Amino acid sequence: MDDDSPTQSDTYYIKTFGCQMNVHDSERMAGLMAEAGFRAVDDPARASVILVNTCTVRDKADQKALSDLGRLRQHKKGNETVVLAVTGCMAEREQENLHRLMPEIDLIAGPSQVRNLIPMLGDLHHPGEGRRVLLGRNYELPEMTTPPAIRPPGVTALVTVQEGCDKACAYCVVPRTRGAERSRPVAAIVEEIRELVAVGYREVTLLGQNVNGYGKNSGTKESFGDLLRAVNDIDGLLRIRFTTSHPSDMDAGMISAMKECKKVMPHLHLPLQSGSDSLLSRMDRGYSLALYRDWVSRLREAVPHVSLTTDLIVGFCGETEEDFAKTLSAVEEFRFDGAFCFIYSPRPGTPAHGWTDMPSRDLSVARFRRLEEHLDALILEKNRNQVGRVQEVLVERVDPSLERLSGRSPQFRHVRATREGDRPLPETGEVVSVKIRSCTKAGLEGVIV
Ligand code: SAH
Ligand code: SF4
Ligand code: F3S
Repeated sequence: MDDDSPTQSDTYYIKTFGCQMNVHDSERMAGLMAEAGFRAVDDPARASVILVNTCTVRDKADQKALSDLGRLRQHKKGNETVVLAVTGCMAEREQENLHRLMPEIDLIAGPSQVRNLIPMLGDLHHPGEGRRVLLGRNYELPEMTTPPAIRPPGVTALVTVQEGCDKACAYCVVPRTRGAERSRPVAAIVEEIRELVAVGYREVTLLGQNVNGYGKNSGTKESFGDLLRAVNDIDGLLRIRFTTSHPSDMDAGMISAMKECKKVMPHLHLPLQSGSDSLLSRMDRGYSLALYRDWVSRLREAVPHVSLTTDLIVGFCGETEEDFAKTLSAVEEFRFDGAFCFIYSPRPGTPAHGWTDMPSRDLSVARFRRLEEHLDALILEKNRNQVGRVQEVLVERVDPSLERLSGRSPQFRHVRATREGDRPLPETGEVVSVKIRSCTKAGLEGVIV
């Protein structure tokens, strides 16, 4: 093969935006492309197929993907055989618009069509028909099996256990891009993780939009707690994480599995979104602050050192200063170990689209900054509390030139460590004890003990 030719007929380039679901969908597409004989390249100028896996959760995500597409479509100029394919959540929501805006795009297909990627690429070229553009909508939805994903080599792997979302949060576009909730059978998940362990992965993150609603609406007998127990029994696996959990899908079985399964890490990401009941109700989140509080206290009682992280939205429709103050006081009350904060971004097709009583942009930005300041101070304080303690760190990276390693504590804190004296550096995938000596809001630093 001539590596210097500008494009080769069997190469692909992939760019990924969005959440871990999308990252994993790209890993699956990589698996499918490899199986079909394509080789990955880092430079889009050398690819015969350019894949852009998009996100559309907020307007900024759309803008990022569009600007990238604007650049990438240049690679088709003078080289019509190059295929430009757009996948992911924006592709699902904006099929016709994208086609109108950028007619160069050859294939536009949403997340549920990932498994049809190879047949769709094949259908782009029909002898004698000239170029045709495919909107990947008329393909049958195959069984919910996972194609062989190609993950980056490492210690920790993403594993889909559930897809789609049956909730209808007023602000959120995801149910419109990822379809109804479906769960994979426990046996298939366990088998996939066994194979991952056999090739060296030590930690898995179980993925789903409402991962703790696992099994609901899918005819699966097993609950999320049962799934955690089954995965906990896999020999050679060291750690289990999962994301995202929904407050309305919490149950006692999940909490007891977190308490009893040694490999399930003491960390829960449980999006609160707002501290105000009236906003939670307008968001149609399906729980109150009191219910959230109740689950947090049951969890903290069962798993004493558990860390709790969350997602928060400011500037949603109808948010008053008083509502916002309730979000700040919820942050104080729950003392989150981390939070992703977002300014509400209206999304076409969602229930809240068209509601007009949003706070002004300036006000929302000001609230966002206040919230972030609050959280930064809290998280720094929480990290300071770790100084002097010993943390068990799963080593994800070792940098021999800097004589340093990095990884995560059980509570998902980022830890960097050096060694003392000339003791050997550990290998990736090992768990080492690290005495914490200092911290920033981004994580902890220490020495291997
Ligand atoms: N299924 C998960 C997360 C989905 S998207 C859950 O239910 O929590 C991740 C986060 O993006 C959400 O938790 C929410 O905080 C944020 N988000 C979703 N839609 C948004 C919008 N339109 N504007 C701003 N933030 C949004
Ligand atoms: Fe979106 Fe709500 Fe579903 Fe999460 S639970 S994906 S926020 S609709
Ligand atoms: Fe994820 Fe973005 Fe879709 S957050 S589910 S890739 S809209």
